[in-house]
Amino acid sequence: MKPRFEFVDSEIEQIKKNHLYRKLRYGITDGSTITIQGKKLVNLCSNDYLGIPTTRLKIKQMQSSSRLVSGNDESYLTLEKKLARHKAQQASLIYPTGYMANLGAIPAIAKKGDLILSDELNHASIIESCKLSGAKISIYKHNDMKDLKQKLRQKSKNKFVITEGIFSMDGDFSNLKEITEIARKTDAITILDDAHGDFVVGKDGKGTGNYFGVSKKIDVYISSLSKGLGSFGGYIASHQNVIDLNVNKSKSFIYTSALPSILIEYSLRRFESKREKQRKKLQENVKLLSAGLREIGYTINSRTHIIPIIIGKEKTAMDFGKYLFQNWVHAQPIRYPTVPKDQARIRLSVTAWLSCKDIENSLKIFDKAYKKFM
Ligand SMILES: Cc1ncc(COP(=O)(O)O)c(C=O)c1O
Repeated sequence: MKPRFEFVDSEIEQIKKNHLYRKLRYGITDGSTITIQGKKLVNLCSNDYLGIPTTRLKIKQMQSSSRLVSGNDESYLTLEKKLARHKAQQASLIYPTGYMANLGAIPAIAKKGDLILSDELNHASIIESCKLSGAKISIYKHNDMKDLKQKLRQKSKNKFVITEGIFSMDGDFSNLKEITEIARKTDAITILDDAHGDFVVGKDGKGTGNYFGVSKKIDVYISSLSKGLGSFGGYIASHQNVIDLNVNKSKSFIYTSALPSILIEYSLRRFESKREKQRKKLQENVKLLSAGLREIGYTINSRTHIIPIIIGKEKTAMDFGKYLFQNWVHAQPIRYPTVPKDQARIRLSVTAWLSCKDIENSLKIFDKAYKKFM
């Protein structure tokens, strides 16, 4: 008899052969550092961009039910009102994660007979959510407005354009000003996933829509509380009826337990904290790291806190990551299918946790790595 999981074994074998094997590593994160296997490294892989100091909260009952049953703690109302105002929208709705916000909201709004225009570099959670909606999906070339316009000519009932604000693996901004203009002219709804721009860019950290001065032209915002805010959860913000429709239809909202209220209270504390100071420190760190990398010779196109160093071959990226690890820097290589084949990269994310010394020390290692790998 052949082994029961032979097909799994051979798939794993294939993944390893292509240098695409992923393995969980356990670590302890603490501000600017992560300790892995007893080794304390500078953490250049954290999405806790603002590095807001942690606060202590009293633990209450962790769980009751889903939000429509008995899990709708009053703290949700306070945070949702604040998030709606933060996005200049009528209302907002919190989901357990940003991934679940996409999974729930996109299929609740778009359906069979509709057309979704999606940027080719959109995040996996957007891609899966679009598939789930049953709408026709048309992928336009990354940030290519000519391609977007052309693809919007297709006939359909409702049209949607969906893009990230700051692309998670490239760190570049979407052409939001043009996208919102094109969408308005063609009667398409603009959906913005601003997981990486929210709380970080724009006035008071209002996000990418605000940064480009088009806040009011975004029809639906989807975002995460687990990145810039450094808490946990996801949310959408839009017109009241869009929110109502999601309460009534959105499966990843209805059929799951509510986030514990302690997490909502944690988000509230962080929302109300001195985020401006943290944003300033983050921008200083971004400048310091990107200028240092450019000086070494790396090609850095990003202007944001997500800085990819494009390596190309998966194996080289893995070796590069290993070298950094050996030298006390944690910067995870990113490979296919997260990014296209042969576009493997070291994705650096800058946080306000990092001190100038952390960055200077890391740059010394990147200098040596440049000579070795580039
Ligand atoms: C663009 C984008 N959308 C959504 C998500 C999911 O957010 P969360 O981590 O809150 O599930 C991510 C996570 O990395 C992301 O990069």
